[in-house]
Amino acid sequence: MKILITAGPTREYIDPVRFISNPATGTLGYFIAKKAKEEGHSVVIVSGPCDMPELKGVERIQIESALQMKHEVEKMFPEMDVLVMTAAVSDWRPAKKFPEKLKLKKSWTLKLVPNPDILKSVSKKKKKEQIIVGFALESNNVLENAKRKLVDKKLDILVANTVENFGKFPGRGEIFVLYSDGRIKNCTGFSKKVLASFLLKEIEQFQQRKLR
Ligand code: CTP
Repeated sequence: MKILITAGPTREYIDPVRFISNPATGTLGYFIAKKAKEEGHSVVIVSGPCDMPELKGVERIQIESALQMKHEVEKMFPEMDVLVMTAAVSDWRPAKKFPEKLKLKKSWTLKLVPNPDILKSVSKKKKKEQIIVGFALESNNVLENAKRKLVDKKLDILVANTVENFGKFPGRGEIFVLYSDGRIKNCTGFSKKVLASFLLKEIEQFQQRKLR
């Protein structure tokens, strides 16, 4: 399969040296990419800024902002069999990027505007045989919110986990994998490595079912 994976955080610049971001490490996306490459798939990773080293045999496209990620994903998606969106895309960006370093010594208000939802826009162009895997991080009502996102974003597989896992995955929070056919698998306690292998296997099985 041709698999496109997004990973890491995005950076939304306020001025040339300051940005809004999040602490995503890119680890899970890179683990999935590594495993997929080992299994003989063709893998492209669109990566936000993170410390993960380049993977042998995996094409890596480095981006910073959500808009750059959207551009790369939309360009490549038509050629892909699978899209796995592990990236922690910033939901907002500053309304404008100041061209010079800001030198404000007083309180000021930064206006943010919403970023486009990459998954949602890509899934509108999804062909029947393509597979899209999304992620969701929830503070509460995990399953309820996850089921809604699965349908809203027309996903085949959604990995939902709770903020208790944030920064120390797996933490005390729950991890569920939801499928478009209604199945739900409780993966609480899975390490990122185990989850990466599990997801790849699930994607391969999903693909076989679609081809039947
Ligand atoms: N995502 C995306 N584009 C965005 C934001 C998120 O494609 N602008 C993707 C992420 O890569 C992830 C999924 O959407 O696979 C879910 O992200 P999450 O932040 O949990 O959900 P949202 O849909 O942004 O909803 P909310 O923040 O309101 O919970």
